[in-house]
Amino acid sequence: MKITYFGHSCLLLELSEKKILIDPFLSGNPLAKDLDVNSIACDYIFPTHAHSDHIGDLEVVARNNPGVTIVAIWEISDYFSKKGFQCHPMNKGGWWTFDFGRVKMVQAVHSSSFPDGSYGGEPVGFVFDTPEGVVYVAGDTALTYDMQLIPITCPSLDLAILPIGSNFTMDVHDALIASDFVQCNRVLGCHYDSFGFIKIDQQAAWTHFAEKGKELILLQPGESLNLKD
Ligand code: NI
Ligand code: MN
Repeated sequence: MKITYFGHSCLLLELSEKKILIDPFLSGNPLAKDLDVNSIACDYIFPTHAHSDHIGDLEVVARNNPGVTIVAIWEISDYFSKKGFQCHPMNKGGWWTFDFGRVKMVQAVHSSSFPDGSYGGEPVGFVFDTPEGVVYVAGDTALTYDMQLIPITCPSLDLAILPIGSNFTMDVHDALIASDFVQCNRVLGCHYDSFGFIKIDQQAAWTHFAEKGKELILLQPGESLNLKD
């Protein structure tokens, strides 16, 4: 699996046959100004919650990719279904098997409403269990003991994608504890540096993980990693 970071929490999980986009938000992110949202091709979009920094470019991408399926918690699925998009509703605790592998919708501790103020259901995370790797996308969340259920209920993770920017989500210290809870020592950091409230010291964050023998990967917007490297 190839994973491309488009800045903030926007990621493309590229399997050999299918492309999965997480939390489309580029045009509002100054750090992603060199990236073109219109160049994104995908088969699925998984928004973790309805805040504008997670769905800001969802409709643009969905319109550019007519066969796309939006997979989201019931309320977000209902919202985009009513706008004519193809959606697959889920809710927390459930698995569904797609044509690329199966996905579990898991707990996130945060809030969720659409930019127009309408109810966005609850925020979520996802575990992607695919033949090309198992990846946990935490979404915007605080550290929560519920993360300990992931290694009990899911196959062992190859990568945990965790927010580290603090203020709105976990900081790097809590993300380190989260990596213990989910039993994954390889972490891709997200939700940092995009705007003032979430600026971090990247070197200190990296060192904090390294001191505990864990790997914190921080990619530049547009940069990719290969899961099996
Ligand atoms: Ni949020
Ligand atoms: Mn956010």
